[in-house]
Amino acid sequence: MFISFEGIDGSGKSTQARLLAETLRAEGHDVLVTREPGGSPGAEEIRHLVLEGSPDRWSAETEILLFTAARRDHLERTIGPALAAGRIVICDRFADSTRMYQGLTRGDLRSTVDALHQMMIGVEPDLTFLVDIDPAEGLGRALARKGHEERFEDFGLGMQQRMREGFLALAKEFSTRFRVIDGTRAPEDVARDVAAATRLALGAPAST
Ligand code: ADP
Ligand code: TYD
Repeated sequence: MFISFEGIDGSGKSTQARLLAETLRAEGHDVLVTREPGGSPGAEEIRHLVLEGSPDRWSAETEILLFTAARRDHLERTIGPALAAGRIVICDRFADSTRMYQGLTRGDLRSTVDALHQMMIGVEPDLTFLVDIDPAEGLGRALARKGHEERFEDFGLGMQQRMREGFLALAKEFSTRFRVIDGTRAPEDVARDVAAATRLALGAPAST
């Protein structure tokens, strides 16, 4: 099973990806946790290119190509082999992030993102958790741990709000694989919902 976590910056995706992996491992599953952009040596190199430097370092189109190139490498070298070996793959962001960040922020480029995705990736997660939180809270959390990967975190509140709405619309568009989770609660409460939905998708009893 291929599981992704999506949501605005600071929503708690990495925390939830880690907690879900711990729970599934404790239940005997073989789990790989990975992230985008990155997750393979080549894709981690591309991560530096796309997340560091000035906001206008790349054109919108070049950025789509770079994120998709990173994803292709990640898929070929990390995700694909792990799924083929029967492991559960948990990925912190996947193609939905490109649909939102590159598809929405600098004009309407969603169809370009989708065309490239279809040609070069062609895979969607089996299950996608949208960790939904108030953008002001997300921005506060993201800025509190501000580091050198800040190209997309200087968007400000207005863009975070558009992004949240975009993610909620995406969850409706792909309603079969999306689960919207209220991320404003304590991490362990969020994690309980995530684990229950995952067990359901795995065909295990929700109370296990
Ligand atoms: P993301 O991967 O979505 O950017 P993180 O999991 O890295 O989010 O969390 C961002 C920050 O918020 C971290 O400092 C983390 O410890 C904190 N955090 C995560 N989940 C919660 C939560 N449910 N409530 C409060 N703080 C949280
Ligand atoms: P991430 O490390 O998940 O940041 P955060 O923990 O703040 O959510 O992702 C880094 C940034 O990369 C984030 O601001 C979103 C952006 N991003 C894109 O713009 N497009 C993409 O396809 C992906 C995967 C991430």
